[in-house]
Amino acid sequence: MPKITYVEHSGKEHVVDVATGMTVMEGARDNGVPGIDADCGGACACSTCHAYIDPAWAEKLPPVESMEEDMLDFAYETKPGLSRLTCQVKVTDDLDGLVVQLPEKQI
Ligand code: FES
Repeated sequence: MPKITYVEHSGKEHVVDVATGMTVMEGARDNGVPGIDADCGGACACSTCHAYIDPAWAEKLPPVESMEEDMLDFAYETKPGLSRLTCQVKVTDDLDGLVVQLPEKQI
């Protein structure tokens, strides 16, 4: 099962096993990682699952689709090329070792 490291804004790390097919947001939510609110439950309708993909991984993820891009406009302090809505990032075996940084806050 792929391991994902979630890094809180404070620097505290949470390394969790996330089953393939789940989303990066679900991996955080189901393992009690704080910092991802996911108010809409993964429908790409709230932007409170925003996180920054570690630069070493950003290019390995599938590109941002238009709906995600539109919702990212509402996220707190986005960073071009690194900000993603984690409910739109599906976990695959290729993402074993992925590191995501959580923002200071969600909107
Ligand atoms: Fe609402 Fe991701 S959980 S946009």
